[in-house]
Formats: sequence, C-alpha cells, structure tokens
Amino acid sequence: MAHDPEAATDKPSALAADRRKLLLGLGIAAGGALVSSLVSERSLAVEDKTAERQVTDAPSSNRADVEQRVPFYGVHQAGIVTPRPANGMVVAFDVIADTPADFDKMLRKLTERIVFLTQGGQPPSLDRKLPPADSGILGPEVFSDNLTITVGLGDSIFENRPWLKHLKPKCLQKMTQFTNDALVAELCHGDLSLQFCANSADTNIHALRDILKNLPEYLVPRWKQEGNVPTILPDSDGHVQSARNFLGFRDGSANPHSSNEALMDEIVWVGQGDGEPEWAIGGTYQAVRIIRNFVERWDRTPLGEQERIFGRRKMSGAPMDGKTENDAPDYAKDPDGKVTRLDAHIRLANPRTPETQKNLILRRPFNYSNGVTKNGQLDQGLLFIVYQADLDRGFIAVQTRLSGEPLEEYIKPIGGGYFYVLPGARESGDYLGRKLAEAAAAGPPT
Ligand code: HEM
Repeated sequence: MAHDPEAATDKPSALAADRRKLLLGLGIAAGGALVSSLVSERSLAVEDKTAERQVTDAPSSNRADVEQRVPFYGVHQAGIVTPRPANGMVVAFDVIADTPADFDKMLRKLTERIVFLTQGGQPPSLDRKLPPADSGILGPEVFSDNLTITVGLGDSIFENRPWLKHLKPKCLQKMTQFTNDALVAELCHGDLSLQFCANSADTNIHALRDILKNLPEYLVPRWKQEGNVPTILPDSDGHVQSARNFLGFRDGSANPHSSNEALMDEIVWVGQGDGEPEWAIGGTYQAVRIIRNFVERWDRTPLGEQERIFGRRKMSGAPMDGKTENDAPDYAKDPDGKVTRLDAHIRLANPRTPETQKNLILRRPFNYSNGVTKNGQLDQGLLFIVYQADLDRGFIAVQTRLSGEPLEEYIKPIGGGYFYVLPGARESGDYLGRKLAEAAAAGPPT
C-alpha cells in the first residue's frame, strides 16, 4: 500500500534528521547564503520539536480558545443567546434544601462556584493533609475556555416545598409523554438543571466535578447527558453554516437570530406583563429532550426520502424550493405540499403563518453518542435544548404539531425535562435566584 510517512504530522523521524543533514550541507555549500540558512535553521527548530513529540503528549490547544470568557453578570444568564461552543452537557439534580435558608445558601454557593469556573483562575493550594481544592484535571490553572453554566429549576422543587409552591412560574409543569415518547424514568425531570457549554468537553466535566465537590449537601445528580457539535470551516467570505446533526442534516438554519435583541425579548425572555412572578423576570423556560436517533435505519433510507422527511436538501440545507440554507420556504405557493410535504418536519414545526409566529422557539441542541444499546445498535441522538418565554406556546405547541410526523420512524425521545432558567445575577455581590430566595423567606402573602 502506498504510504507517505511525511504526511503524518507527528512522525518522529529519521527522515527529519536526514533532511537536517541535507539542508545543513546545502547551507555550507552555499557559503555566503546566510539568510537562507537562517530561515532553514528556524524551520528546523520547529521541525525538531515535532520530531521530539511523544505519543502520549497532550494534543495542543490554542491560547485564544482557552482564554475565551463569557461575562457572568447581566440581566439574563449566559448560555442561552450566547453562541454555542462545541461541547455541551445537561445535568439534572435532586435538591436537598428543606428550608428557605438552606435554599438561599445553596444558591449563593452555586453562584460562587459558577463565577470562579466561568471566569477562570487559580484554585488555592491547601495543606497536603487535606484533599486538594480542585480535582486538578485541567492542571494548576482553570481556564475559562468559553464555559457557561446555566441554572434552571424544575417543577418538583416548587411542588414539593410549601414555602416555594406559591412562587412557581405559571407555565412550569412536569414533562408528560408525547405520542412517540418512550420516557425512561431515570432520565427525566429533576429539581434543578445545569447546562454546561464550553470549548472542550473536559472543561464541562471539570466544572461538574467542582460543583459536586463543593455542594454535596445540596445537590444529588439524577441524570446527565453530554453532547457536542462538529466544528466546521467558515466559507471563503467568513460566513459559517449551521452544524450538522447525526442524521447528516444542517441543524439550526431557520433558528431565530440570537443576536437580534428585540426578537429575543419577544421569543425567549420573560418580561414585565407576561403574568409571571416578579422574581422570574429576565428568565426563560428550558425544555430538554434526549432524543435517540435510529441511525442504522436512517443510513439505509434513500436520500430523496430523507430530504422529503425534513423538507430540506441534505448537503446544502436549502429548503425544497430554495437554493441556499438561508432561503425561506414559500408554503403559500405550495398549498398541497407538492414541493414540501405538508408533514415535512420543518413545515409542521413552523408553518410560517401569522397565527404560528407566537410559537417560535430558540433551539440550542448538541449531538450525543453514548455507546451501544443492548440489541447492538449505536446509541446516538440529539440532546435537544430549547428556550422560550412561554412553554405552552413554545415547545409544547410545536411538539404537539410534530406528533405523528414521518421523522418519528427514526427517532425516539427517551428523557429530559422542563426547567425555569433563573434571571441573571446583576453584579458582583448579587447571586442567581436572589429574588426568589428572598420571596421564599418572606413567606406566602396572607
Ligand atoms: C432528533 C430530533 C430532531 C432532529 C434530527 C431535527 C432536525 C431538524 C432539521 C434538520 C431542521 C432543519 C434545519 C433548521 O432549521 O434547523 C429542523 C428544523 C426545526 N426543528 Fe427540528 N429536529 C428534531 C427535533 C425537533 C423537536 C423536538 C422540535 C420542537 C418540538 C423541533 C423544532 C424545529 C423547528 C422549530 C425547526 C425550524 C423550522 C423552520 O422554522 O423552518 N425539532 N429540525
């Protein structure tokens, strides 16, 4: 078999040494060609480093990425309209907090950890007789690495605590089974959700370990799902297309634009006048769904059928009547579904009529790959995460419309839950959920 050893970047080498001899020889032969010899020496220095690399050396990262930092303080929590990094993870917990005072302490401690983890820094060195302050899995310095940790509260934390019950957001409810669901109890619900997003998966795991170590008296993990999205090269004009999901389609093409603040105020953020408790203003509803994909079956489905099921072209992401990913389908011109089937995923999810504008949602999903199921199939799918100002009008209405879609033959929702994402902490000294904790401590109105 033809094999080019120089094509592999990490090959140590006799070859590199030979080339050095050759170049040095040429340098001497050239006598006065000092400049070219210096250039050669410089490139050799780089080559030599490569030559010295060991098989177990860490793959190198770049400083700009590891130092990327998302500000923590603000009206809203980070990790929602923030551009999605490559790695995500959702963990749901049962909360141990029997009094408003415990609840308050938990929120303060959680905020303190999130500030440290997302802004980065050096963990303190403790006496060697004690367990170290940090797991150490990222080394002596904890880089911010674009990490965001987003905190949500589930229906059960309100329902099971009389001092919180009267403060429950109006749409918050326990996730119920839709027609195609096969929900697994151990993968559903929770008192509290944490969404971790970062450039590297290790940063998310490190952050989870830190939180578990620092809040063991309050948080017991219930389920966890990691995911990632493929990084892709920008187009020549700098534009970046949507990432692909595990069915090979571009996912996110028609997502409402998260940099449009007015639109996000309408679709995502709970505001004054939405009829929500005062403490909840600036928050949003999070729906998480762990949706298995039957990838083996999908990979044996004809391309034309795959495209009809979604209503988009697989490679370009263009709608059936368009040329590029960003073209908008015109369903008014296609009332009988001859171009885009009436039950195509995108047509049901967003029929693009004036009446369905109120159902727009902000999707922020990751792909997951967990291993192999008992019957020998790949356990892959979509960690579907979606944000909206009204859960009934958003996820629940859209999922109800999607029930019975042809895509269901290839997907199976098995877990997840609904959570209310707390408003942001405004400035240093403030903490996530402060207003809720204060209202809980004040007791129900008499
Ligand atoms: C494994 C499950 C799913 C897969 C593989 C999937 C995939 C896709 C793809 C490929 C698109 C077209 C590109 C785009 O605009 O992003 C799309 C659009 C969309 N999906 Fe899904 N999706 C899934 C589940 C869901 C669920 C559970 C919902 C909500 C209940 C949903 C809501 C939407 C919406 C709102 C759009 C945009 C439609 C438009 O505005 O044209 N999807 N999805």
